[in-house]
Amino acid sequence: MLTRIVALALLAAPISASLPDLGYPGWKCDDSVYKKSKNVPTSAHSVRFSDIKVIGALGDSLTAANGAGAAKGDPLAVILQYRGLAFQCGGDSTLDEHVTVANVLKKFNPNIIGYSTGIGSANVWEVAKLNQAIPGAEAIDIITQARSLVHIIQAHKEIDVKNDWKLINIFIGANDMCAYCEQEENGPHSKELWKKNVITAVQILKDNLPRTIVSMTGMFDMRMLREIDHDKYFCDGLHVFECGCEKNEKFTNDDISAACHRYMDAQQEIVDSGIFDTTDDFTFVLQPFFNGIVTPPLKPDGDVNLDWFAPDCFHFSKLGHANVAKHLWNNIVQPVGSKNHIVNLSDPTIPLNCPDATCPFFRTTKNSADCSKFLTPSA
Ligand SMILES: *[C@@H]1O[C@H](CO)[C@@H](O)[C@H](O)[C@H]1NC(C)=O
Repeated sequence: MLTRIVALALLAAPISASLPDLGYPGWKCDDSVYKKSKNVPTSAHSVRFSDIKVIGALGDSLTAANGAGAAKGDPLAVILQYRGLAFQCGGDSTLDEHVTVANVLKKFNPNIIGYSTGIGSANVWEVAKLNQAIPGAEAIDIITQARSLVHIIQAHKEIDVKNDWKLINIFIGANDMCAYCEQEENGPHSKELWKKNVITAVQILKDNLPRTIVSMTGMFDMRMLREIDHDKYFCDGLHVFECGCEKNEKFTNDDISAACHRYMDAQQEIVDSGIFDTTDDFTFVLQPFFNGIVTPPLKPDGDVNLDWFAPDCFHFSKLGHANVAKHLWNNIVQPVGSKNHIVNLSDPTIPLNCPDATCPFFRTTKNSADCSKFLTPSA
């Protein structure tokens, strides 16, 4: 599990202000894409970004943002959950200083609720809000997380469950891969069971949360972890605890890739099956920008850019979260079918893109096939 070191220390100093970061001061799109819909949309395929009132997340330590604010040389701070910096659902500071999907959405709806701030666990409402990710979680665990999220949303008076549009982000799979090599054939981390667990979790959201878009970040190819270890004795040692299969020499780089690609295939099969497109007020979108990346971000001299990683060389740093969030957002505004399946993590000049003014909605399978069917007046 990625957090076996949890018990070792509890009082590491959370210094994150001076760490490298990525923000977009003055980010500006066409005026039209900031408008709300004239009437609250009834279709998941006509949701303008300003219509999104609630944001939440499910996942593991990468979504809880373990270590994201840890100072270099302070690997014990990887036990801290820097949820406010998390790429999918963190709301510390603003887009000017730090990119997250939530900070981008604040530009469209400053009153959006559900994003995390500060440091703390999933059960501390003041910090976590609707980010229910739990360190160490595998696909089976997002089922419980989905139930918690539903309960919290239903109990929360500020949220109008029936009418408010909700965006739930999911990223899961790293811990399944880390245990993959230890299982029997068709064991708990097989593609089929993994897929079934994801479907069960999303179905709980569908059954209980009307007006919801689920955005799943595509699985990443964890062979890149071995590249980070190369010549980094310290990281190498930590990864033995954090990711068993990565350290299992009988499990080759190709085996790691193949395991990760099975989960990617499972995600695509869920999209293709259309099971979450059977009602008009719910949909499921996959954001696959990670899929084809096999090398970690590099510095101009070709060395791994460790500014991207927390001091354990595995979790994302503050800069890593911001950079991943940029590519996730860019995937979100691309139509299904034309989304990037690979991006250059080493290129800091790639811009943060704007929604398409001719189809200013959260891109879904249906509005990507034919946006004209879903056009509605803006306010
Ligand atoms: C990625 O970007 C870096 C920095 O701009 C560049 O040096 C490198 O060639 C790019 N890689 C690819 C595969 O385009």
